[in-house]
Amino acid sequence: MCGIFGYINYLVEKDRKYILDTLVNGLARLEYRGYDSAGLAVDGDKKNEVFAFKEVGKVAKLKQLIEEEKPDLTKVFDSHAGIAHTRWATHGTPSRVNCHPHRSDPAWEFSVVHNGIITNYKELKTLLTSKGFKFETATDTECIAKLAKYLYDQHPSIGFTDLAKAVIKELQGAFGLLMKSVHYPHEVIAARKGSPLVIGVRTQKRMKVDFVDVEYTEDGPLPAEQASQHVALKKSNVGNFLSAGNLIAPADKSLLHRSQSRAFMTDDGAPMPTEFFLSSDPSAIVEHTKKVMYLEDDDIAHIHEGSLNIHRLTKADGSSNVRTIQTLELELQEIMKGKYDHFMQKEIFEQPESVINTMRGRLDAENKVITLGGLRSYMATIRRCRRIIFIACGTSYHSCMAVRGAFEELTEIPISVELASDFLDRQAPVFRDDTCVFVSQSGETADSLMALRYCLERGALTVGIVNVVGSSISLLTHCGVHVNAGPEVGVASTKAYTSQFIAMIMFALSLSEDRASKQARREAIIEGLANISTQIQEVLKLDQPIKELCKRTFVGQKSLLLLGRGSQFSTALEGALKIKEISYLHCEAVMSGELKHGVLALVDENLPIVMILTRDDIFAKSLNAYQQVVARSGKPIIICNPNDEEFKTGQAEKIEVPQTVDCLQGLLNVIPLQLMSYWLAVAEGVNVDFPRNLAKSVTVE
Ligand code: F6R
Repeated sequence: MCGIFGYINYLVEKDRKYILDTLVNGLARLEYRGYDSAGLAVDGDKKNEVFAFKEVGKVAKLKQLIEEEKPDLTKVFDSHAGIAHTRWATHGTPSRVNCHPHRSDPAWEFSVVHNGIITNYKELKTLLTSKGFKFETATDTECIAKLAKYLYDQHPSIGFTDLAKAVIKELQGAFGLLMKSVHYPHEVIAARKGSPLVIGVRTQKRMKVDFVDVEYTEDGPLPAEQASQHVALKKSNVGNFLSAGNLIAPADKSLLHRSQSRAFMTDDGAPMPTEFFLSSDPSAIVEHTKKVMYLEDDDIAHIHEGSLNIHRLTKADGSSNVRTIQTLELELQEIMKGKYDHFMQKEIFEQPESVINTMRGRLDAENKVITLGGLRSYMATIRRCRRIIFIACGTSYHSCMAVRGAFEELTEIPISVELASDFLDRQAPVFRDDTCVFVSQSGETADSLMALRYCLERGALTVGIVNVVGSSISLLTHCGVHVNAGPEVGVASTKAYTSQFIAMIMFALSLSEDRASKQARREAIIEGLANISTQIQEVLKLDQPIKELCKRTFVGQKSLLLLGRGSQFSTALEGALKIKEISYLHCEAVMSGELKHGVLALVDENLPIVMILTRDDIFAKSLNAYQQVVARSGKPIIICNPNDEEFKTGQAEKIEVPQTVDCLQGLLNVIPLQLMSYWLAVAEGVNVDFPRNLAKSVTVE
């Protein structure tokens, strides 16, 4: 959804040009998450001054606005804090005023950028309005900045951390946020609850510490002597908030400040010149540093004078009180477009490699062994479970549909596949002996995350099949598999689909390794996986013919049908979603067996139809549907295996894909459909990486 970026330097001299460029480039890397407006706030020329820039549209327009406003770019800061945001509107239409950062007052005493939703913002707004605050935007975020100012005005001597704790205690909902203030120059607060935040650290010398201890404050955020001043707030009768002593540290207890947090120091203990890069996504950080620390839910990070302190208001069960600095395994070129026109195109063409990365170190084709380290200690429990429920959204849901048959066949465990939103709407029954598998590229999709929490509450074993390392789903599930497809930037998911598919097939193969009756089948599938990358390369050679086919056949059409049967129905579903989301052409996936139950009425010589007719054990039935279409003067384009006797040259327009094991065939069949959606979108003049109304990571319900 939205993207957050922040930059703080300490004892490292940087001019304003560098600071602004760093923030703007950070936003540009995050633009795929949301792109209706962008903004940033940095220190001004004078003490207590803030320069804020906000613009509707893409980050390039924000950059243009900054150039037009001509701030003094040569001014040098040895310590400075800047925060930035790219937005995808949830509350309030895209406009300059609704764009982040949001401010506490016209002097920008507090500035905030925020991802997620503050569900109690109306109550907060009512209270703050009654205290004289004037709200200027239609967003939920504005109440955070105003609440900070309100509390600060009551306690002008309060430290930034304690103030942040007091503010955050009052916020309900989900958030990842950054806050800066003229009262705490060059300092930034970063807080996370349900929306990811990662902090990159760049030091000029080797870092002495590679972890940060968490300070857990048991009794409340405010020092005891300040607590009594909150009595007025405590008596507030607006909603429930600021009540129940939330904000109050009991006067008779002292705070448990275990100040073990770390500064980055040189060997002789002197402060180390340090830069911090904060982001909702590591892909915006990797060009600056590979040393990163992921915040966990309820963490409040305070960065000041080169030190990074993590605080918590609550002690989460099982959560560690140490946050380690990790090394990102992400290369800059992985997130650049390279020779391709769009990220989506690049990601389609990366698939021969991304599928190998998914299998690397896990699939031993020679000895027919699958090793999934992240599941090893849970395998026995999963084998004994009473059913496996796959839960996901969009493309990730289609990948679950694609492997359902193979899972049932190999494991003989009952399998169901659920759309996360519908699963929650129904409050579907879940039991302790269920295994719930959450499949997600981003690992942050709100519907899937909520379904995960729902299953955890009911005691089920949870497994994550996730692409983004350190994402919420990967952190919250008991065990899982990272699909290792590499960063996926294009809004339309492509390589994540094929990698999820393979990760789940490996999961099924692993579960069935002790079943003697399945060995021949397992071996055939493992061999199929070993060859799949080369076969994907073969299919990608169809790129230009498919481009021509799209121009010839689909451009200017109103609608398109995609027909598939068995596991190829999921391929049709995925193809139809891709075509809809990036070319805006209405496209419907139809299960071939259902054709005669209604959809056949649409078929005539004009309606474009694509049929998936690769060989499998229900091929004869699929052929039936083909004949029904042809009999109604339909002229389907068919996806089939090379030189299939059934489809003589000249009889039908064909897209020929190599044959593989039936349960892997969807990995090859989906690629022409990905290419079709891409070239259709290009022909229609759609900006492929930024389809309207969509964002890469859907972190709202
Ligand atoms: C479509 C697409 C979406 C996502 C869906 C779930 O191309 O990308 O349908 O698949 O929003 O996202 P993740 O997989 O991140 O949970």
